[in-house]
Amino acid sequence: MRLIFLGDIVGRSGREGVLRHLPMLRDRLKPDFIVVNGENAAGGFGITEKIAQELFAAGVDCVTLGNHAWDQKELLSQIDRMPQLVRPINFPDGTPGRGYTVLPAKNGRHKVLVINAMGRVFMDPLDDPFPPVEKVLRIHQLGGARMGPAGVDAVIMDFHGEASSEKMIMGHILDGRASLVVGTHCHVPTADLQILNGGTAYQTDAGMCGDYDTVIGMKKEAAIHKMLRKIPGERYSPGENDATVTVCGVFVETDDRTGHAKRAEPIRIGGRLGQSIPTLA
Ligand code: FE2
Repeated sequence: MRLIFLGDIVGRSGREGVLRHLPMLRDRLKPDFIVVNGENAAGGFGITEKIAQELFAAGVDCVTLGNHAWDQKELLSQIDRMPQLVRPINFPDGTPGRGYTVLPAKNGRHKVLVINAMGRVFMDPLDDPFPPVEKVLRIHQLGGARMGPAGVDAVIMDFHGEASSEKMIMGHILDGRASLVVGTHCHVPTADLQILNGGTAYQTDAGMCGDYDTVIGMKKEAAIHKMLRKIPGERYSPGENDATVTVCGVFVETDDRTGHAKRAEPIRIGGRLGQSIPTLA
């Protein structure tokens, strides 16, 4: 199967960047499944149902979230009607929405498990992410129908966290049981995309889909002011320059029988960052 994961969409410029480049990516890479992290899609803070639906209409199969999941409060009452929208699995019991989902691939033959979890190092305290992820992976095992009726053909894990070490630990723990473990939240793509020993594609951070002439997607003047003056200044808002928007993510091809990654390449399209646009062999 061919999988695309795109990192955190930041604001209007990030959304439009994704919508601008996705048709070309779909045409070129013929993906069977597309996941994007949308937790900063609404003005940099959270996501709305309308924005999620726009992404689904553009061919996105699943949207993941993170620490900004509830910044748009109306999502609390909307999330339960969107099975393709996943929030971190380690929120407290009783939190609306779901921490994982199993969805059909575009080819209609395969099933994809998407899990979203949040790290705890340098992040708001949450439940331990490792036990609930283990529980899900024991039920939905990689390897397709030969793993039983709950078997899945691909597993994509978005681990939303700050610390590279914590994300690497998740990668190694899931090695062989996931097709892709990818980090989000840092908004900077790391150069460590690799296939781990057991066959799991891994990247510490996918990078954002947003304006890179900023401080992690937000206008740099306000961020610099706050850092230097330590007094409230202009409210943070996403960068708006379409010319410096780069869409960042990862492209993975899996073995249809095992669900393991055979190939993993970075995606970077648009202004500012060095370009990386995979092609099909
Ligand atoms: Fe985040």
